[in-house]
Amino acid sequence: MTEKTVTVTDNETGKSVELPVRSGTHGPDLVDIRSLSSELGYFTYDPGYSSTGSCQSDITFIDGDQGILLYRGYPIEQLAEQSSFLEVASLLINGDLPTQSELVGFEDSITRHTMVNESLRIFFNGFHYNAHPMAMLTGVVGSLSAFYHDTIDINDPENRMLCAHRIIAKIPTIAAAAFKHMVGEPFVHPLNKLSYTGNLLNMLFARPSEDYEINPVAERALDQLLILHADHEQNASTSTVRMAGSTGANPFAAIASGCAALWGPAHGGANEAVLNMLSEIGSVDAVPKFIDRAKDKDDPFRLMGFGHRVYKNYDPRATIIRKTCHDVLNELGVGNDPQLELAMRLEEIALADDYFVERKLYPNVDFYSGIIYRALGIPTEFFTVMFAIGRTPGWVAQWMEMLTDPEQRIGRPRQLYTGAARRKYVPLHRRRG
Ligand code: CMC
Repeated sequence: MTEKTVTVTDNETGKSVELPVRSGTHGPDLVDIRSLSSELGYFTYDPGYSSTGSCQSDITFIDGDQGILLYRGYPIEQLAEQSSFLEVASLLINGDLPTQSELVGFEDSITRHTMVNESLRIFFNGFHYNAHPMAMLTGVVGSLSAFYHDTIDINDPENRMLCAHRIIAKIPTIAAAAFKHMVGEPFVHPLNKLSYTGNLLNMLFARPSEDYEINPVAERALDQLLILHADHEQNASTSTVRMAGSTGANPFAAIASGCAALWGPAHGGANEAVLNMLSEIGSVDAVPKFIDRAKDKDDPFRLMGFGHRVYKNYDPRATIIRKTCHDVLNELGVGNDPQLELAMRLEEIALADDYFVERKLYPNVDFYSGIIYRALGIPTEFFTVMFAIGRTPGWVAQWMEMLTDPEQRIGRPRQLYTGAARRKYVPLHRRRG
């Protein structure tokens, strides 16, 4: 079979270059443009990288038109229904679903790495009580690099896997410490007899003054939310982790850069922004006014939790959350949450509106996740931290894949320079103001 190619011709010089086309398992083919600049002297221009593949990857596949999400080939619906978060984490970082004994070994290793050095924990005393928890998470995850630097050899596969286990294990401990600092309560140490998610709930909500019982409905709902957030191919935070990691940076520093990128309201910060938006809208009567504002190009207001760079159909994660949202709220006795009612009405009105229909703007994962987090007792400003805990196995799997890909080089895009043309330096005394 002849190889598929694409020919690019410079209409000014008539010179052509034949570019190879690469095919993956699923999804559109990619034109390999690496020889374009050496052959024709051009770079490509693609702000926001909407048409650019930055790597080849075996981890996650998304079909945005069909609303399909696969982790290592497995549909998200099946994983969310049948797997635990640690099973999914093992799948992402190792490539296959673990056997029973592999899963036990993985869970055991993660459990044994949950503690953080006491010196790291006292870093929290340096933060003001009202510091945003994402600021604390980003800073303290980055600080792990100070505890594990000289001992890390990113070229050693076993050492890379140890880093992966350490970060997956420690991020809930760090997140919960940020939470306790925020609410002014004593830090709760990890408890090895609990599940990953049970331990997270315990570290968040247990207090020395009273017994804390983990609600199995809350534990399962949270575990499912973590699964839904575990990876999402080359999104902004994952690309940031890959970019930072491509320099050979310390992996904990690279994961911290992912936390920083995730924080923004266009990405992981959207779950917080959705609840703030619902509070701002206030009641169902006000929905049409806010829909009009979202459509007005002169108004910066957007419907948070709507739209996605890749999904031009229902975000499959939103479909799963939407289904479980009601069950969870009913189980936890908050089934008549007015914000859920408002969210449903907003969704209904937006989905019937031509503006949203034409642009294929559907609710994304963050539209419903915040409502569940809130029902679990998690404060709004902490939602993105929960997203970060879920995304950590994805970040670390992508970081490991990047380091072992022989085609990967330091991430270094080009630009179209539009500043001043070359000019001569003017000495200070000759400059006229
Ligand atoms: N409300 C109103 N209009 C919107 C919205 C929205 N939420 N999202 C996109 N549009 C419009 C946009 O104005 C543009 O219209 P036009 O073609 O007339 O100029 C069109 O839809 C395409 O939007 P875009 O900004 O070019 O799309 P993008 O791919 O650059 O942005 C997005 C994707 C997710 C940043 C954007 O949809 C958005 O800001 N959504 C709200 C924030 C949000 O919910 N983010 C969470 C994403 S899912 C979680 C994650 O994976 O991080």
